[in-house]
Amino acid sequence: MTTTPDSVGLGMPQLPAPDYPDDVRARLERDAREIIARYPGSRSALLPLLHLVQSEEGHVTRTGMQFCADVLGLTTAEVTAVATFYTMYRRRPSGDYQVGVCTNTLCAVMGGDAIFEALQDHLGVGNGGTTDDGKVTLEHIECNAACDFAPVVMVNWEFFDNQTVESAKRLVDDLRTGVPVAPTRGAPLCTFKETARILAGFPDEREGAVEASGSAGPASLTGLRLAKGEAARVVHPRDGGPHDAAQDRAPGDATPHDPSLAEHLSSHDAPQDTSASDPANPAGPTAEEGE
Ligand code: FES
Repeated sequence: MTTTPDSVGLGMPQLPAPDYPDDVRARLERDAREIIARYPGSRSALLPLLHLVQSEEGHVTRTGMQFCADVLGLTTAEVTAVATFYTMYRRRPSGDYQVGVCTNTLCAVMGGDAIFEALQDHLGVGNGGTTDDGKVTLEHIECNAACDFAPVVMVNWEFFDNQTVESAKRLVDDLRTGVPVAPTRGAPLCTFKETARILAGFPDEREGAVEASGSAGPASLTGLRLAKGEAARVVHPRDGGPHDAAQDRAPGDATPHDPSLAEHLSSHDAPQDTSASDPANPAGPTAEEGE
């Protein structure tokens, strides 16, 4: 009897994965050919193909893995190894909206831990659990490189920045009742299956989606401009909006003169001394070392 991915290591062979209905398989094969054609070697298409099968069923099933193996000429063990390595591939049915609360260090101390605990109580599910209505799957996630907007909640990988316990509860309530919600930045929200199809490499054809995607938030741009030594607007979303750092400084002085602004700036917000600006501490070999 053929063993299948889920039976590997369990010592108990299982029935082969059921195939897709003919029309579904024909459609997926057409999409798969388009994806595979983008790569010099077909096996390089495995990651987007896993997104493709995830877009069909909402998670990566044994049928989906068998399909990937068939069209790429891989073994199911090879496909399973990849599908189980990356957390972006879900292995069991879950909600239309994957709500990920960042509980990595910065988000955790800024309120991410409290948000995650509150949402567990509010939704009545634990980590990885799905609400009875099939709308929301809650999970804690690692850093999503959006620490300047901590604490961050992701819904189907779209950003909801600077969350609080109350705003996060409102967010999941809206998702469950169908009230439209908009991410803080980036493309408009869509369901998990629709997101998976976009991640498989098919264009997001919703109006305005392309223009909205890929935009950096104001806090990130402020950091970039400060790193370049430019004046920048310092953003304090919890404090009524941005301040113009340049207006609070004497020419050539990186130190803010407005005490209220000084409270908001961290050591990361201002240009740091470098070997060029700090002659007392030059970089490179000293005269003695150079001899
Ligand atoms: S720690 Fe949460 S986005 Fe980086």
